[in-house]
Amino acid sequence: MSEAAPLRRAALGAGRYFGAAVRADQLAGDDRLRAVLLRDCSVITPEIHLKWDAVEPAPGAWRHGAADDLVAFGKDHGIQVRGHTLIWEQSTPRWARERLLHDRDWALVDRWFGAVLPRYRDAIRQWDVVNEPIDTEHGDGGMRRTSFQRAFGNDYVERALRAAHAQAPAAALYINDYSFDYANPVDAARRTALLRLIERLKRRDVPIHGIGLQAHLDLAKGALDEAGLGRFLREVAGFGLEIAVTELDVRESDRRAPLPLRDRRVADAVAAYLGVVLAEPAVKGVITWGLSDRDSWLQDQDSRNRTDLAGLNRGLPYDALLGRKPMYWTIRQAFAEARAIA
Ligand code: XIL
Repeated sequence: MSEAAPLRRAALGAGRYFGAAVRADQLAGDDRLRAVLLRDCSVITPEIHLKWDAVEPAPGAWRHGAADDLVAFGKDHGIQVRGHTLIWEQSTPRWARERLLHDRDWALVDRWFGAVLPRYRDAIRQWDVVNEPIDTEHGDGGMRRTSFQRAFGNDYVERALRAAHAQAPAAALYINDYSFDYANPVDAARRTALLRLIERLKRRDVPIHGIGLQAHLDLAKGALDEAGLGRFLREVAGFGLEIAVTELDVRESDRRAPLPLRDRRVADAVAAYLGVVLAEPAVKGVITWGLSDRDSWLQDQDSRNRTDLAGLNRGLPYDALLGRKPMYWTIRQAFAEARAIA
């Protein structure tokens, strides 16, 4: 692989894709970000524009513009768009949560799905249908207590997948969730809970095609459970599902250390993680939650506009000035070392 090979090409060499989350406003105002994105990404995930609260902030007040822009951008440049996300408690507008709990009428969910699934039927081939359904600490049988769960019971996941399939029969339907990665009892319990959910869905022939691993790594969490994670991925694959790393980034634990050391720690965490996940052939691609530290959701509110770069979290492949960091080279190396899949 040549020195200049971008991540997209490195991923392709391993039979995978590489992509990043992006916001339409960032892209529109920044030619350099566009150039970097076009170079490295074969997939983009709208960071916020396909969430219910972004698309329908008030009943019937549809706002499709930003998502349409990203879809058009993808089409113009041969970049796939991932649909994120149909059902997520945190991105469900308050008015809809109140109505769900009050009426317990699935028609509201069908109506929401109907606003986006048919609209992007040709453009979006992969959807996170349910985001973050697992909660082993405060949940009900491992299922997070959300407005949907309270209104319709734990079966809401099955209903959502069936409803999405009815409206977008060709789309790959995913469940997306976090914290399956580290050597601690919570992550272990979460892996088990997700496997149980998959098992229930498969037993009932529910259309589910993939699992998204958010992979928000956190340097304060200690060691990855490499064996546990690898076993979990094999079990997910054993159900016939594909897997994607959907939101990779790294939260630092010590922003006072020298920059080279900080960047090395981030890169090492990514290397360890991708070493495990890319060993599993069911893992089809890797998406980072943004490209540049400048745009990362991990920045504290007050550090977002800082010119002092050292104050920023450095958990994405590019720094705030769009310089490539060790994390970038590590991702590239991980693809180069991965066993290629067909
Ligand atoms: C985050 C975005 O990055 C923020 O800009 C937004 O304010 C909230 O959502 N898990 C997910 C993503 O599935 O949708 C979240 O994205 C980050 C956590």
